[in-house]
Amino acid sequence: MQAEAIAFERFDNLNDDDCEQRIVQAKAALGRRAVILAHHYQRPDVYKHADLTGDSLQLSRLASGTDADYLVFCGVHFMAEVADILSKPEQITILPDLSAGCSMADMASLLKVQRAWHELSEVLDPDEVVTPVTYINSAADLKAFCGEHGGIVCTSSNAMKILQWSFSRREKVLFFPDQHLGRWSGHKLDIPLEQMAVWDFDEPMGGLSPEQIRNAKILLWKGHCSVHQMFQPQHILRFRNQHPEGKVISHPECSFEVCKNSDYVGSTDYIIRTIREAEPGTRWLVGTELNLVNRIAEEFKAQGKIVQFMASTICMCSTMARIDPQHLAWALENLVAGKVVNQIKVPAADAVLAKRALERMLEVSR
Ligand code: 13P
Ligand code: SF4
Repeated sequence: MQAEAIAFERFDNLNDDDCEQRIVQAKAALGRRAVILAHHYQRPDVYKHADLTGDSLQLSRLASGTDADYLVFCGVHFMAEVADILSKPEQITILPDLSAGCSMADMASLLKVQRAWHELSEVLDPDEVVTPVTYINSAADLKAFCGEHGGIVCTSSNAMKILQWSFSRREKVLFFPDQHLGRWSGHKLDIPLEQMAVWDFDEPMGGLSPEQIRNAKILLWKGHCSVHQMFQPQHILRFRNQHPEGKVISHPECSFEVCKNSDYVGSTDYIIRTIREAEPGTRWLVGTELNLVNRIAEEFKAQGKIVQFMASTICMCSTMARIDPQHLAWALENLVAGKVVNQIKVPAADAVLAKRALERMLEVSR
């Protein structure tokens, strides 16, 4: 008989020290049956319990490589969906708080992308000339759409390679949901800005004329990350005035102007590696999420490196931070009691097609 799930209310008011102890105990009780995965942006009081950490690309690889029965995902919803799709059928993926979503992923929906595809077909044959490319920060049904229409998934680590693959097959790309990653990657491939048109999903025909659609190499979905849009060129200017010897490094979800004014642009893993490999004594301004920047500032202090956060306000991935120690303890103790809570299960029809688009990505970025 199935055990009764332990209610979250019993954990809601648990103090942090008790939580910490209970997470450690539950992990020990589960042993190798459960693995905790955490994205680089995860809050420190949860991140410290992770068995596996990484950026989106690394986590998707790690999820497909683990043998644990339970994958407890301390990231956001789309990441847990990817883990479910790429893991073995008998493995169970858990997102400790189901409200840990991604505001950028929510800016594209299957209905809106289908409408865009239909509207494009009034000007050209999209299945002949357009590769749909979805950033991994998107719902599983959008990955399935890409799988079905000859498209592919990308992450911030491999977007340029994925665009090259796409252009070797078809002449145009519909890139969703992050316009900034699409624009920056297109720019790095020497595509002029005039040939990257923004598709405004709230306007008929994306707000574009047939002429603009025919001229575009990349149609950029009008989505963005609410965290990375906070970083501004004036933050970089101020830093450069104060520290002319300092280096600036940003995530490609930042605006084009921020990326252009940075010395280095890349994924969270790239940012960590670049600063780790830098000379002792160097100073860095970093344009990405606060939990990650704080973590590396602390880690690299020992090497005499100074790591500064780009914005003057707090820019945290507040949705990822919803996975707090209380939710982690609750999910783990339920597993110890033989009960699965907050399982993420992508419907089979979507999972098959989404896996096709994800496997294309993993193959191209090997
Ligand atoms: P990475 O691909 O660098 O992990 O970034 C994912 C993300 O959500 C950044 O906001
Ligand atoms: Fe989504 Fe932005 Fe959070 Fe990344 S930082 S998970 S893009 S809301």
